[in-house]
Formats: sequence, structure tokens, C-alpha cells
Amino acid sequence: MSAELSTTFTGLRFENPFLLSSAPPTESDSNIMRAFDAGWGGVVTKTIGLHPVVNVDGPKTKFMRANADSARLSMQKRAGAVLHSSWNWELISDKTLDWWVPRIRRIKEAFPNRVLIASIMAGSGNDKELRNWQTLAEACQDAGADGVELNFSCPHMDRKDMGSNIGKDEGLCSVVTEAVKEVATVPVWTKLTPATQDIVVEAAACFRGGADAIVSSNTFPALPIIDPETLEFEINVDGLVSSGGLGGPAILPLSLCNMARMCQAFPDRAFSGIGGVSDFAQALSYFLLGCGTVQVCTAAMLDHAVGPNVIRTLLAGFDQFVEKHAADGWKSLKDFRGARRDRMVLQSAIRRPDGDDYQGGYEMVEGYATPDRSAASV
Ligand SMILES: Cc1cc2nc3c(=O)[nH]c(=O)nc-3n(C[C@H](O)[C@H](O)[C@H](O)COP(=O)(O)O)c2cc1C
Repeated sequence: MSAELSTTFTGLRFENPFLLSSAPPTESDSNIMRAFDAGWGGVVTKTIGLHPVVNVDGPKTKFMRANADSARLSMQKRAGAVLHSSWNWELISDKTLDWWVPRIRRIKEAFPNRVLIASIMAGSGNDKELRNWQTLAEACQDAGADGVELNFSCPHMDRKDMGSNIGKDEGLCSVVTEAVKEVATVPVWTKLTPATQDIVVEAAACFRGGADAIVSSNTFPALPIIDPETLEFEINVDGLVSSGGLGGPAILPLSLCNMARMCQAFPDRAFSGIGGVSDFAQALSYFLLGCGTVQVCTAAMLDHAVGPNVIRTLLAGFDQFVEKHAADGWKSLKDFRGARRDRMVLQSAIRRPDGDDYQGGYEMVEGYATPDRSAASV
């Protein structure tokens, strides 16, 4: 049985449910077209804004790696270490809206059947800023973008009315989404920050504003490690650092937890999962919780910039998974999406062991000492 890879998400038909997320892999038309050639079902552009940005001096992203034989975690390149996470302090696209518009048009002319989502960002402090969101959305949809993704999640904006500062404020989430929905003729996705007390609150606010889907996660607020020899942050400019964002394998379980809570709260709504996906096993976790698409950044950056091997692995993994579950009648994502959505419950709803089996929680697993049975029997 061959897998049915195509899927419909927020009314858009995707050849497959795997997208490149808004980030360096999607910062130019040439990259985006290479990504479509490689097989990605969709691409979200690097976030487009109206305010010009200039990035910091030096590297904007680095990768943290862990040693297998010691506790060392470092951005320094070394043999045998495995990827732990990415860390970045890159701002939104440094290209103008005028630069993007003709390129969006050209990409869609070349790939009419692939989904191109324009990620956009403006402020939210006054009516002029709300109008900026509308200007961005209208320009991108008029150029042919299939949808817009509102960036309420960039973790390193100083402005109090931008990026993750919007995503931390349910009122702003709702107002900005509503402003974009007033002019949008295409689906509107909102990308939320994980740096909030209860992401379900902001998701609800976006849905109240009319959002067609929630996207999560952007990177988690993080600092690079301080080098114990030089006493300098592993990334710094003139010795200084600012809070940046952590992505990659380290954030997979964190992002899944947020996603599980939102998918349970809104089982009939659309969600796109991001965070730590590099092969099908990780994408599957998001699908089983209820996501209709997944997006990838860090793994693609490390794979020829647009992830040709990553998408190949994702597609092959999907095929193999469906083949393995042929007896269950699973042919396409809709057959298993959300199949584990209800498995996250309150701690008190988890079964406790029966009397004799109880070891006070000190079973011999990693992180605990061997149980002291003499003490237990006193
Ligand atoms: C260098 C870099 C730049 C990014 N730029 C953006 C951006 O412009 N807009 C956005 O919404 N997310 C941006 N992101 C976040 C990613 O799209 C993604 O949400 C995050 O990296 C988690 O996915 P991952 O674990 O696959 O990396 C960026 C991430 C990185 C590493």
C-alpha cells in the first residue's frame, strides 16, 4: 500500500505535510525554490517587516553539541559530539517588502502547486502599527502568497509591542489577528512564543481574533554558555550578549508539551508543530498529538541549508510508517492525526502501583539510588 502524502490544512492543499519554517533556509527566492525542488510541501518565508533591521556583528546562529563520554556541552566544533540545539539572535529579514513582493510572485509562478506562506511582523502599539500588519498581509497575498503567518514569537525584539512581546499578551494576540483578518483573503496562521505562562490562553485569544491555525514553537529564550577558560559567552560581540533563542533537538519535548495542551483544548482546530524535528519519528509525535503539518529549521540549516536529505528522510519515514500500519487501515495523515491527543492527563489520573510493588517511587532507574529496602520495611 502506498502512502497518501497529500493533506489539506486550513483549506490549503499540501503535496506533503512537511514545511520549512521561517528562518535562514527561507530567506531568499533562490533558497525557497531549491527547497521546493528538494520536495518540501510548503515553505514559510523568513519574517518580512516594514522596519529595516541590521543584525549584530559576527555569527547570528551557532550549534551547541554534547559529548557522548562527558558532560561537556559547547558550541566549539569537535569530533564525535552530537547536536544538542541551535542558538540564534538573528532578527527578521533584512530585505524590504519591496524586495520580497516580486520574488513571492516569481516563486508562485514557478511552483503553483506548492504552498508558500509569508511570515510577517509589525508592531502593535497604535493604529498605525496595526495598519502596517494589514499592509504586509495585503502585499504578500496580492503577490500570490497562499497564506500569512503572524510572527508573535521572535524572542529577541527590544520593542515592547513586537515579536514575542505580542505573543505574551492575549489582548494584543487577539487585536492583531483581527486586524489582519479584516483584510486577509488567505488563511491566517499565528506563530506563538513558548515563553509564556499558559500558551492555551494566547491560542484562545488568536482563535477569538479569527486565526485559522496556531504554529508553535518558535525558539525558547536562552543564553549561550560561558566558556570556563575565557570566561566569555561562547557567542558575544565585544563581550556582550543578549537573550536569544534555542531550537533543535533540545526543545522537542518542551514544544510537544505546549502542543499537547493546545491540541487538547481545541481538538477541532488546526495546529502546525515546530521544534526539534529532523526525521519522521519526531514529526510523528506532533501528528499523533493532533498537528496537521510540521515545520523544520535547525535540521535543514545543517543539511545543505535547505534540508534535501531531511525532506527525503521525512517522506521515506512517512511511507514506512503507513506500510507498517497497513493492517490498521492507515493510509494518510488524517487516519492517525490526533490518535494520542488524549493520553496527556493530570498526574492524579495516572495509575499508582499496588501495595507490595510500591518502592516509594525509587525504582532502579536513572537518577535514583538503589532503594534502601531495610529503611522501607521499618
Ligand atoms: C537562525 C534562525 C532564524 C530564525 N528566524 C525566524 C524568523 O525570522 N521568523 C520566525 O517566525 N522564526 C524564526 N526562527 C525560528 C524557527 O522558524 C523555528 O521556529 C525554531 O528554530 C524551532 O524549530 P527547530 O527546532 O526546527 O529549529 C529562526 C530560527 C533560527 C535558528
